Amino acid sequence: MSTLIEIKDIYKIYRPGENEVHALDGISLTIEEGEFAAIIGHSGSGKSTLMNMIGCLDIPTEGTYRLSGRDVSHMTDNELSDIRNQQIGFIFQGFNLIANLDALANVELPLIYRGVDKRTRREAALSSLEMVGLEERIHHKPSQMSGGQQQRVAVARAIAARPPIILADEPTGNLDSHATWEILDILKELHKAGRTVIVITHDPEIARQAERVIQIKDGRIVGDDQNESEKRPEKY
Ligand SMILES: Nc1ncnc2c1ncn2[C@@H]1O[C@H](COP(=O)(O)OP(=O)(O)O)[C@@H](O)[C@H]1O
Ligand SMILES: [Mg+2]
Repeated sequence: MSTLIEIKDIYKIYRPGENEVHALDGISLTIEEGEFAAIIGHSGSGKSTLMNMIGCLDIPTEGTYRLSGRDVSHMTDNELSDIRNQQIGFIFQGFNLIANLDALANVELPLIYRGVDKRTRREAALSSLEMVGLEERIHHKPSQMSGGQQQRVAVARAIAARPPIILADEPTGNLDSHATWEILDILKELHKAGRTVIVITHDPEIARQAERVIQIKDGRIVGDDQNESEKRPEKY
């Protein structure tokens, strides 16, 4: 396995000068290709800021970040956007689907931005929707689906372009327990299929599903443990 994410001593300071917020306060972290890691911490601990760094949505105030061997910590917005398109599939707590597009069109959209031709796009979107068990719902709009189904569409959208990294920020935060476990099962499948999966959560039960749990507090890493076994509630 090779190193995918190599973060060295990064800081993120919001509002430099007066009322500075040190959202990330000297974080070093290495994640290998194919890992399934959870980043856990209380609200305000810096999880989303760290996800934004890992996901190339923002750059650190200080420190370096190498993704697949490339230093991305000084890239321009356009360069970062290319890296995101090639490498990262995002899943957010609020699904972030487009209301007036059906499931299929939502999943195809990022492939349009990447310039994938119509036929390949359609095939990729259909197989992703099938992977999340929504082949019967491809023409449903978000308002015609449950929260769990909407999040499965969002997962299909994240994986359609086959990015090596799946980054999920509180992916089950708006879901009931049944839908939560459906999403976690899908993330585990993706991990088994070789993707690197990183889940950000405040919930220890969710974090326990990952192989590795990285704990963050006040912008610093305060724990980094391998899980012995996957634990889950008996009923869900
Ligand atoms: N754009 C921003 N401007 C100023 N402060 C911010 C901004 N984003 C986050 N923060 C602050 O940085 C800290 C970490 O926030 P965040 O990364 O969102 O934490 P978490 O996701 O763990 O709740 C918090 O104190 C938050 O208020
Ligand atoms: Mg957050």
